[in-house]
Amino acid sequence: MIMLSCVLVPFIEISVANKYSINMCQSMSDDGQTLVSTGGKFELGFFRPGSSHKRYLGIWYKNIATVVWVANRAKPINDSSGILKLDSAGNLILTQNGSLVWSTNSSKPAHNPVVVLLDSGNLVIKNETETEPEEFLWQSFDHPSDTALPGMKLGSDLRTGLQWRYTAWKSPDDPSPGDVYRVLELYNYPEIYLMNGTTKLFRYGPWNGEYFSGIPDRRSDTNIYDKNFVRNQDMVYYTFLQVTDNVFTRVVTNQTGYLYRYIWAKDGADEQNWKEYKTFPRVPCESYGLCGPYGNCVSTKSQSCHCLKGFRPKSPEAWNSFVWTQGCVRNKPLNCKDKLKEAFVKFERLKVPDTTHTWLNESIGLEECRIKCLNNCSCMAYTNSDIRGGGSGCAMWFGDLVDMQQYETGGQYLYIRMDASELESGGTMLGILVDGQKIAVKTLSRSSWQGVSELINEVKLIAKLQHRNLVKLLGYFIQGQEKMLIYEYMSNGSLDSLIFGNTSRVVGTYGYMAPEYALDGLFSTKSDVFSFGILVLEIICGKRNRGFYHIDKNVNLVSHAWTTWKVGKALELIDPTMKESCVIFEVLRFLHISLLCVQQYPEDRPTMASVNFMLNSHMELVEPKEHGFIPRNVMVEEDLRSSQKNKRSTNDVTISLLQAQ
Ligand SMILES: *[C@@H]1O[C@H](CO)[C@@H](O)[C@H](O)[C@H]1NC(C)=O
Ligand SMILES: *[C@@H]1O[C@H](CO)[C@@H](O)[C@H](O)[C@H]1NC(C)=O
Ligand SMILES: *[C@@H]1O[C@H](CO)[C@@H](O)[C@H](O)[C@H]1NC(C)=O
Ligand SMILES: *[C@@H]1O[C@H](CO)[C@@H](O)[C@H](O)[C@H]1NC(C)=O
Ligand SMILES: *[C@@H]1O[C@H](CO)[C@@H](O)[C@H](O)[C@H]1NC(C)=O
Ligand SMILES: *[C@@H]1O[C@H](CO)[C@@H](O)[C@H](O)[C@H]1NC(C)=O
Ligand SMILES: *[C@@H]1O[C@H](CO)[C@@H](O)[C@H](O)[C@H]1NC(C)=O
Ligand SMILES: *[C@@H]1O[C@H](CO)[C@@H](O)[C@H](O)[C@H]1NC(C)=O
Ligand SMILES: *[C@@H]1O[C@H](CO)[C@@H](O)[C@H](O)[C@H]1NC(C)=O
Ligand SMILES: *[C@@H]1O[C@H](CO)[C@@H](O)[C@H](O)[C@H]1NC(C)=O
Repeated sequence: MIMLSCVLVPFIEISVANKYSINMCQSMSDDGQTLVSTGGKFELGFFRPGSSHKRYLGIWYKNIATVVWVANRAKPINDSSGILKLDSAGNLILTQNGSLVWSTNSSKPAHNPVVVLLDSGNLVIKNETETEPEEFLWQSFDHPSDTALPGMKLGSDLRTGLQWRYTAWKSPDDPSPGDVYRVLELYNYPEIYLMNGTTKLFRYGPWNGEYFSGIPDRRSDTNIYDKNFVRNQDMVYYTFLQVTDNVFTRVVTNQTGYLYRYIWAKDGADEQNWKEYKTFPRVPCESYGLCGPYGNCVSTKSQSCHCLKGFRPKSPEAWNSFVWTQGCVRNKPLNCKDKLKEAFVKFERLKVPDTTHTWLNESIGLEECRIKCLNNCSCMAYTNSDIRGGGSGCAMWFGDLVDMQQYETGGQYLYIRMDASELESGGTMLGILVDGQKIAVKTLSRSSWQGVSELINEVKLIAKLQHRNLVKLLGYFIQGQEKMLIYEYMSNGSLDSLIFGNTSRVVGTYGYMAPEYALDGLFSTKSDVFSFGILVLEIICGKRNRGFYHIDKNVNLVSHAWTTWKVGKALELIDPTMKESCVIFEVLRFLHISLLCVQQYPEDRPTMASVNFMLNSHMELVEPKEHGFIPRNVMVEEDLRSSQKNKRSTNDVTISLLQAQ
């Protein structure tokens, strides 16, 4: 028996210089002997790091001499008397002058164990004929140092409790474990962190099925390595795999607080070297928690930190002196007594927040997720846990939202819980009712002078005015100063966006206001006729009154149309895209009518009934008088409001609705 003979003659040891395996009868001493990987890529032996005089057992790239793994990190050998042996139980033993320095600790039964270095850089102890990685007695890939090679894992084996984590060297001269390490935390929605002791330095963001939320750029990575995230009942880990033989790649956790991915192109330029391919954190925005709770970091802006919409700096003084860590607080605190007064606002292009306090269910969708989140007062946000195929799964966040980032492109959606009144920020915003119906919420300005009973009267009036071409009013909401109108949500946008094939901002109704209303706050049915005239004019000309552009700033669509019409060149006004397909004399007649509608004095304008009659007959039309449109530069919106306030009319109920449009 070989084993027996080794035990009987323990001092006859066969050296293994430049061999491919070590068995129980062999040993390796620190006199230049090494173990070489099967394909010749990696090498195991004794080495001395940097300017240190201490000796370590480690693995390096055979032809590059970059060390990727160290056995006795914390217990150096102070001379070259170290000896590595394999014992009969299948454990590697490193000794110096007979005393133990380092050993492996495998609990699996061994039979004729051997040690081999695989070409992946994995040092393996196994039964001699074993080829199944699952059956290895021990492997160095399960005990990483600071370097991740392709195929190494970062995460946890849930069955054995084994954790794959990467700890920096203390310094280039000292491989003993530093303070900085990279670890996968087993939160409900797991995350990878770069840590310094107990301080978080950088966060990958959770895996969303395609990429880590905090690393949305996939650039040319796929030519070099493939990322893989595995999450099942046995294991949770991240790994990357090499996709080409021409490039070496490794990821090093460095005591400086950075993660480096290096690449080495084997057939690259003449000057071959490791190149820093990526460094994390790359920008200040990637430093953990830079902007504090509810802060949003924007790398492209000169000031990185911004409060999310609906939030303000907790300490404006600190914020203004660029101390952001205190973060932001809600403009309107949540009280969670009435679910109907809370809503979720959709934020876009985000690195989703820290997942320490999360809940995950991969089998439910966004809608069920929203309901679950709404029903738990401490749930602050939710989104799909997997973005593939339009999105699936549910991730919910509890407590303050920390470490978010806003991207120019890419990134994820996040639905954040807000007081419903914060929906006001955009004037009109999409909301979702408890039953899932999409609604448009319109908030009336808080300083609105309108009384509650008038508003209710108005709501009743509008409710009766249901028309299939009008957006339906579904309900209203009044509490103290807060007043909201709730409309059905038009998923395809407004008619406005169809007529002008392209709106990117909310436009008020300024461009349709009759002069007597704009200047004096007086409103009558003739003001509607005026607005109708503008609308007809816009349709005919294919141009927007408000955004109409002319070299002379004082010229707007109305005045342009009026002067052109007066000099007999009305044909030029017609939208070229409809000129071919329309009946010209009809369009000219409509143009004439529209000019009658926009005359300066209400008493000159026709009633809606006569407009209707004019449109449907060939009756002679009178010459229009001067139009009454007030150019934009005559007054700013603020003046507009104050003038309305000062000159109330009995119709101011209608006015407030127009204002909120
Ligand atoms: C080396 O270490 C051994 C064991 O720790 C110790 O006995 C010895 O004195 C050390 N030699 C030197 C030169 O430091
Ligand atoms: C080796 O160990 C023996 C006894 O344990 C001791 O006498 C000897 O000095 C040691 N040699 C070195 C070089 O440390
Ligand atoms: C080896 O593992 C066993 C059980 O798994 C444990 O009791 C023992 O302390 C370990 N030894 C070392 C040196 O880690
Ligand atoms: C190694 O071989 C022994 C004897 O054949 C066997 O009992 C043991 O299960 C093997 N170990 C592994 C990890 O396969
Ligand atoms: C850590 O980074 C510093 C600065 O880039 C570098 O000098 C040092 O060699 C790195 N350490 C290791 C172990 O890679
Ligand atoms: C890590 O923490 C220590 C102690 O708090 C500190 O001295 C050191 O500068 C930190 N290192 C990094 C890279 O943040
Ligand atoms: C996920 O949600 C489904 C459907 O509501 C439920 O049956 C399942 O138990 C949930 N899973 C977890 C882990 O909560
Ligand atoms: C809300 O969720 C938290 C975190 O999952 C949980 O501890 C708490 O019990 C939940 N509260 C309710 C009312 O369901
Ligand atoms: C919205 O537009 C799409 C595509 O143009 C169309 O298929 C759909 O019917 C429209 N929906 C409504 C409600 O008009
Ligand atoms: C809408 O506007 C954007 C930006 O101004 C432009 O790139 C796009 O081509 C426009 N689309 C249409 C249909 O006009």
